[in-house]
Amino acid sequence: MTANPLRDPRDRRLPRIPDPCALVVFGVTGDLARKKLIPAVYDLGNRGLLPPGFVLLGFARRDWGDGDFEQLARAAARDHSRTEFRDDVWRRIADCVRFVPGSFDDDDTFDDLDRTLIDLEASHGIAGNAAFYLSIPPVAFPQVLKQLDRTAMASSADQSGWRRVVVEKPFGHDLASSRELNNLVDSVFRPSEVFRIDHYLGKETVQNLLALRFANTWFEPVWNSNFVDSVQITMAEDVGIEGRAAFYDSAGATRDVLQNHLLQLLALTAMEEPVSFDSESLRVEKRKVLRAISLPEDKAAFTVRGQYEQGWLAGQRVRGYLDEDGIPPDSRTETYVAVRLGVETRRWAGVPFYLRTGKRLPRRVTEIAVVFKRAPHLPFAKTDTAELGHNQLVVRVQPDEGITLRFGSKVPGSAMEVREVSMDFLYGSSFTESSPEAYERLLLDVLLGDTTLFPDHNEVEASWQVVDPLEEFWATREPDRYRAGEWGPRAGDEMLACEGRTWRRP
Ligand code: BG6
Repeated sequence: MTANPLRDPRDRRLPRIPDPCALVVFGVTGDLARKKLIPAVYDLGNRGLLPPGFVLLGFARRDWGDGDFEQLARAAARDHSRTEFRDDVWRRIADCVRFVPGSFDDDDTFDDLDRTLIDLEASHGIAGNAAFYLSIPPVAFPQVLKQLDRTAMASSADQSGWRRVVVEKPFGHDLASSRELNNLVDSVFRPSEVFRIDHYLGKETVQNLLALRFANTWFEPVWNSNFVDSVQITMAEDVGIEGRAAFYDSAGATRDVLQNHLLQLLALTAMEEPVSFDSESLRVEKRKVLRAISLPEDKAAFTVRGQYEQGWLAGQRVRGYLDEDGIPPDSRTETYVAVRLGVETRRWAGVPFYLRTGKRLPRRVTEIAVVFKRAPHLPFAKTDTAELGHNQLVVRVQPDEGITLRFGSKVPGSAMEVREVSMDFLYGSSFTESSPEAYERLLLDVLLGDTTLFPDHNEVEASWQVVDPLEEFWATREPDRYRAGEWGPRAGDEMLACEGRTWRRP
């Protein structure tokens, strides 16, 4: 029997419960912590996946005690958890909620945190285990990492248990800064202790891409340039910048989404079969793809940046980007980006990978569409060959999670007329279990010490190597404009049209 790379031997031992530990969240009053991290902790607790001896420790610049933090955490869990909010579940978590007030430049605060972790060994039995979640602006990463180093809190050698760090994206601002940050993280933590979060990898549908490709026989034989015409990866959002002006204006869609989520989706779509479904094997294959990415020679024709102007969405008038609170009126930051990339390998040479993402597009949808070459000959007189399109396989990452196959089918009647139809697999109707939230899955992996779904520093650096030349090319250019509620600027459509293609309307 041949080994199945997707067979994870640990699955036989499911459900695995992490060791007793503390989850220390820096920036615990921020949006990410309130909307994603604390609800994920609650959901894990509700599913019985938190260990006895689990402590949620918040750290922020607030004059708060444990009780104030508990109230914030309770409201966050109640408002944003995936699973039903139950008082009895929360009470169990609430007993183990702690808060340490202070700022990142204050040595005393970190000494205090260190003492708190030591005390928690005796009071809650956390056995010296702690994961530090940096849910803070990237500029503050170095300060916090240095404090964790100074106090030896980062060093598992100095503790009775394990120490881990979770770093939120963006991991650096360009290749040089990401290298600098990587060096710093690596000087404080060991590679197996570092978890760089890209929450798209925690989504069930993204992981299902691997199941689709490597647990079946149908798809792999046609998953190459002999059969594939092009690949379209779309991550569209109807929301605007949601009050994150300072961060967003310095990042833009390219650093916020293309550098991480979109390139990771490309890597999973294009990679070779890993020898096993473990961290190192997966990372090796993704890294090879990221390193094989080529940029278009004609960047003016095959890359597009856009910025939304005021428009209409779901019947509501919405402001333009430049009118958003906190955005400088002359900002050139892009809220939309589309690029045509290549993957220079035997499997993919010549196949364009079109990637696009944008804010204030008509709807929230993320999908990967593999568009196949047209049949070489269509012997059907009554068929409008222009309409009969390329077969497509669409992985719907969200919403309506599932997979669609588009192919030609006979129209009922006496004539041999062929028309495009869809065949759908829907997670919601095929499985009774609902999918965990991405952060729920990834947080559990952190506590279990499983780095499989976390990009390593090589991947991060390879992604910046793709993005840096684009940023350099765009540096002095104005973005194109699009009205909120449209599918991006016209140049985005023209980029495909000049090669005889069109974007899918998801
Ligand atoms: C984040 C970006 O990484 O992903 C946000 O910073 C974006 O700008 C978000 O809105 C989208 O995530 P999801 O899971 O809602 O598609």
